[in-house]
Amino acid sequence: MLKYFTPGKVYEVLLTTKSNVTPVGVVREGETLRFKLFKGRSFDDLLSTPEASIQITNDVQLIVKSALNLDTDIDIVSNKRWRWIKGLPGLYGIVQREVTLWKDELGETEVLQGKFIPVGEIQGRLSLRPFSRADCLLVEMAVLFTRFKVSSEEETCKKIKALYELYKHLGGNSELAEYIMENLKYRSE
Ligand SMILES: Cc1cc2nc3c(=O)[nH]c(=O)nc-3n(C[C@H](O)[C@H](O)[C@H](O)COP(=O)(O)O)c2cc1C
Repeated sequence: MLKYFTPGKVYEVLLTTKSNVTPVGVVREGETLRFKLFKGRSFDDLLSTPEASIQITNDVQLIVKSALNLDTDIDIVSNKRWRWIKGLPGLYGIVQREVTLWKDELGETEVLQGKFIPVGEIQGRLSLRPFSRADCLLVEMAVLFTRFKVSSEEETCKKIKALYELYKHLGGNSELAEYIMENLKYRSE
């Protein structure tokens, strides 16, 4: 499974911890996957329980819903120390973690630097889904929106609106894009 991850490139995968599922960007380094988590449920889960699963998906709706903590129709499988999403291919493993300080234009915060070491493989398959630029834009909108929720930066708000315009132009029609735009309006009032 790791062989499908080109070293150095960021891949968006789903991270399942003790009590949560969230998208996370991982980068392969040797036989491990590295990621960075800002404070939240997954951060807390990994601090107390360093076991997690990382699964791949081409379902953009699932990625975005997991980021926005909206209901999904996934089933979770529990197997001894691990939990994972039923049906998706991936890996379960141990997370070595270190909490460090992160500084950016929004200020200073704690961040969990995780190193995922695979223990075993999760069997599954991806559904047939043609590639769509609109889907890429929806993911990008969601990434920026999770940032906007913490920062309320005007610049981020503008970027999301611009992505939305292109998203619509390319035929995107997910209710998740509307959800983001509604909440953007509400939060920037
Ligand atoms: C495609 C995508 C990738 C993301 N990658 C990360 C990441 O690498 N680290 C992170 O802290 N948040 C990431 N996020 C934002 C989290 O999904 C979001 O903030 C989430 O609510 C985390 O909080 P939680 O652990 O409480 O669920 C990503 C969001 C999206 C849409």
